[in-house]
Amino acid sequence: MRTSLTTLQKMVESNEKIAILTCYDATFARILENSGIDALLVGDSLGNVLQGENTTLSVTLDDMIYHTRSVARGTDKVLIITDMPFGSYQASPELAFKNACKIIAAGAQMVKIEGGHIMADTVQFLTRRGIPVCAHIGLTPQYIHHLGGYKLQGNSEKSAKLLLDEAKILERSGAGMLVMELIPAKLAEKITQTLSIPTIGIGAGNSCSGQVLVMHDMLGLSQGKKPRFIKDFMVEAKSIPAAVENYVLAVKAGRFPSSEHQF
Ligand code: KIV
Ligand code: NA
Repeated sequence: MRTSLTTLQKMVESNEKIAILTCYDATFARILENSGIDALLVGDSLGNVLQGENTTLSVTLDDMIYHTRSVARGTDKVLIITDMPFGSYQASPELAFKNACKIIAAGAQMVKIEGGHIMADTVQFLTRRGIPVCAHIGLTPQYIHHLGGYKLQGNSEKSAKLLLDEAKILERSGAGMLVMELIPAKLAEKITQTLSIPTIGIGAGNSCSGQVLVMHDMLGLSQGKKPRFIKDFMVEAKSIPAAVENYVLAVKAGRFPSSEHQF
């Protein structure tokens, strides 16, 4: 039996941090699972790291199904969460359900969707029909043309309050997990204390219930300017499994992210 959402919920209750990485193929999936990762996210960041696109907007449902199958075949213990790509869920809860079913059939146990209160109906529609949903707020890359850049969210009093409200609405609608990307550590802490579901941070400080990073970033493979919240775990490791084990240990011990990686 794979790690389930219930297991992660119990980890939150016993104050054990949840370590997650993105993953898109079977070989890395096996390595990550054997290195102690709790869950894998088949992220639509594959549009950036595998396909070389500047945004995630052109990633298709078929792309996500293909990579979910690969990750599922390479593992048998970890929980698999797959991003619903841009355009596959926004139009209606019914459309979201139809496409989420294909992702679940490909081997994911949970789907992730971006957006706040606007997604409340969809979260409720899916969860009530047996599909666990991870919500994603803060910097939501599928809203890039609306946000106007990859920058810190919730850094004014008004926008912070808005994000806290969104988080509450999503939990109330049935979300089983919440990813918070690029928000101030203090706000992420407040949201984590307010909710009872696991909160997973990326650039959101170390008070979250767990952390996620894009695997290529934490293995030092991504070229160009390195965002502040990323740590290259290969610098102090002799192998990829050792780097992943160090990431898991650092997350579990609350050593990552440290103050230099948060806002
Ligand atoms: O696609 C992705 O990798 C993500 C994480 C950064 C949370 O959504
Ligand atoms: Na994503």
